[in-house]
Amino acid sequence: MIRELQHDMGLRTAKDERSRQEFIAALRGHVLGPMADSMRRRFEEQHLPQLHRDTGKAPENGAQVHEQMQNDDYFRAYSAVRYNAQEMVFRSVIPAVDRQLDELNQRGRAIRNDRDIALDPSLDVPRNVANIDVHLAPGSYHSEYAADDVAAGAIYDNSINVFAFNQMGRNIDDIGWTMANYLRLKFPDFSPARILDCGCTVGHNTVPWKLTFPEADVHGIDVSAPVLRYAAARARGFDADVNFTQMNATAMQFDDNEFDVVFSSMFLHELPLKDIHLFLSEAFRVLKPGGLLLNMELPPNASLGPYDQFYLDWDSYYNNEPYYKTYRDQDNRDLCQRAGFARDRYREFVAPRYTYTNEATFRKEIETTPRFDEHTGTLTEDLRWYAFGSWK
Ligand SMILES: C[S@@+](CC[C@H](N)C(=O)[O-])C[C@H]1O[C@@H](n2cnc3c(N)ncnc32)[C@H](O)[C@@H]1O
Repeated sequence: MIRELQHDMGLRTAKDERSRQEFIAALRGHVLGPMADSMRRRFEEQHLPQLHRDTGKAPENGAQVHEQMQNDDYFRAYSAVRYNAQEMVFRSVIPAVDRQLDELNQRGRAIRNDRDIALDPSLDVPRNVANIDVHLAPGSYHSEYAADDVAAGAIYDNSINVFAFNQMGRNIDDIGWTMANYLRLKFPDFSPARILDCGCTVGHNTVPWKLTFPEADVHGIDVSAPVLRYAAARARGFDADVNFTQMNATAMQFDDNEFDVVFSSMFLHELPLKDIHLFLSEAFRVLKPGGLLLNMELPPNASLGPYDQFYLDWDSYYNNEPYYKTYRDQDNRDLCQRAGFARDRYREFVAPRYTYTNEATFRKEIETTPRFDEHTGTLTEDLRWYAFGSWK
């Protein structure tokens, strides 16, 4: 059963909508679990020997595996089910948001505190958000349908709850808990006073930073107004004092050396490469000397074997995520260096999910060197998160 969201911006869903959501969550669990396992076996038992016979060697990268798998019936069925499940995720929540939109907009306005949010109506929403329905979400993150609109935030929160089928945390916030606690446990003497989350959407992974470091001044920025309105109201439900500002992360309006931590999660793979460079340079500029850049992301292609590269790049080909593979083909240490960070200050790690693990195990696991495998960044019960960054 997928769990109800635990805050004051929750939706009322009809019984038939609930069961549709349960079905789609289970379908996604089936595609990403047993179907993905069968597809891998099929590749190993049939395609790999075939490729050896035809070319005398194994594929060298994910693109070659993709080329081989494109005509495989099982891969086509897998992709059709997964693509349709993705569309159905949104269809299973949009009617309820539509029905309650006036009330949600009013509730959002009543709950959020004006000092928690600063919107900039003059901001140009960049093309990576405005020109595509990102990961097939109708209206992307920024579309607005009424005054004080929170629709895109409500759609995102409720749809990701179905999408994640309970694998991303009680409030879809495990990434934030994992990253904040990694920092707390691994660097107990580092006590961040100002923390910035870039591309924060509805603040799923911003709020855990405030709850982990209650003394810190925590900020979230995003280019999309409706998700920020929703974020500010949602954060109140966790008693988290977070400032949300509409701002482009590639041209921040903060001064130099303002933050101890600049964080992002699942952000870079939705940016064109030129904007990744701009964002990282901005992160370097706004970080204090001794501060930390930390990006939770999908693991880089170079860290995985050809089949796992192919498997993760599915979204780039079939899920309206045009920048996904280009980002995953980068060398993250090179990206940081180009933005101004010293090469020897680079860090990367793979960590278990904090809210699914006890602290002793978590602590032990983060002492080890990163282990990249098919569970890194893939939504299954063995999921582990990857992150990289650098000290300034
Ligand atoms: C995949 S979501 C990030 C998810 C979020 N960090 C989380 O962990 O829940 C990408 C977000 O980045 C925002 N975005 C895209 N380009 C941006 C930019 N140049 N500056 C700031 N935000 C941006 C989008 O509006 C969207 O909300």
